[in-house]
Amino acid sequence: MFSSHYKYVSEIINQGLEKASLDGVLIYSGHVHNYFLDDMPYAFACNPHFKWMVPITETPHCIIHYKSDSKPILYLYQPKDYWHSLPKTLEGEWSEFFDIIPITCKEDVPDFSDLKNHGWIGQDDSCEFDNLQHNPKKYMDYIHWHRAVKTKYEIESIKKANKLALKGHKAAENCFRKGYSEFESHLAYMLATKHNEYQLPYGNIIAQNENGSVLHYQHMQRFRHQQGSLKSFLIDAGCQVNGYASDITRTYSFDNNDEFAKLIQAVDKMQVKIGKQATTGTNYVDLHTKAHLMIAEILKDFDIIKCDALTAHDTGLTNVFLPHGLGHYLGLQVHDIGGHQKSPAGKIKSPPKLHPFLRLTRTLEKNNVLTIEPGIYFIGMLLEKAKADDLGEYINWNRVDDFKPYGGIRIEDNIVVKKNNPVNLTRE
Ligand code: GLY
Ligand code: MN
Ligand code: MN
Repeated sequence: MFSSHYKYVSEIINQGLEKASLDGVLIYSGHVHNYFLDDMPYAFACNPHFKWMVPITETPHCIIHYKSDSKPILYLYQPKDYWHSLPKTLEGEWSEFFDIIPITCKEDVPDFSDLKNHGWIGQDDSCEFDNLQHNPKKYMDYIHWHRAVKTKYEIESIKKANKLALKGHKAAENCFRKGYSEFESHLAYMLATKHNEYQLPYGNIIAQNENGSVLHYQHMQRFRHQQGSLKSFLIDAGCQVNGYASDITRTYSFDNNDEFAKLIQAVDKMQVKIGKQATTGTNYVDLHTKAHLMIAEILKDFDIIKCDALTAHDTGLTNVFLPHGLGHYLGLQVHDIGGHQKSPAGKIKSPPKLHPFLRLTRTLEKNNVLTIEPGIYFIGMLLEKAKADDLGEYINWNRVDDFKPYGGIRIEDNIVVKKNNPVNLTRE
């Protein structure tokens, strides 16, 4: 599977080189940065351009020298260092496509200062050669546009990352059912997925009760709620396989038969429905708007708002309850780049004024992979603002008071766009 992936990647890179009038590129895996005044590093995050070609995700200082007319060279960093262990033995189909040259220190890096017409693809402070074009825009835009279409190998990797994450979700939910703390659910997730913190594609969001209303809640409380006061659980957590991420959210009510459980079921049903509409040629902004109208219907059905769906959307009332985009591209990055591009040449299609947080505005293509993650939240700050902005008359405040202790709901799946029947990697 990797060989057809590599074929696609090299075709796109060759075209990108041509667009940018380049003969080749040096793709740098990245390096770590230390904390201020310290010799402790932040976690390493691999350059997505690098892991698109080589599934080595935890090794800094590697460089791929890619030219359209010769076999690429991978300068593989293997320091003679007794402080850390060396990267694991490199096996796999991918290695056939590279001449691999180990480098042990900076001095082993070839002098690239005579290279002509080359780009350097890497983080801001990484290029030490004046002759190299650092992240040339024409090249980057072209690659970012085409990276949105995923190969079989990529889809398979994201599918595996889903499978693994679901083990963690199950373990975390079991902890919640036993009344354990947010932190205990987090630890159960890590154990079940065999991930450590820096291997996670993003920090786990594990929230009980009103913490579920914080979109990227990060604290993981250590205490267990007293019996009777544990109401709800929201978990947004993914895994990585071959450098590809999953990004999955589920919400649970402690009492499977209460009103909040019914509200979850309604969002879940609506989420499946909207996910089935992620088909080739669909404009994602339209899908996002459709999702808002469907959320408005649910809010009305549950007597949380008092106006019709269209009024709720047009006045911005649905944004009070759903203040984020319907979803985003997913792949080598959790929020894969290129979602606002209008063309391979880098023109931008900004999100609509009413929905500034929408990360994806493109028309969907076959084998795009994206998330579908609608929600309903009861966020104090936004509800107070709505009241001050005259939206308060549309809101049934008694119902809001009932639901506020439960925090919020988000249901998030990973979807592969197809002509007719999108593939739901999370549910399947
Ligand atoms: N977990 C981050 C997101 O859903 O976008
Ligand atoms: Mn997401
Ligand atoms: Mn998520």
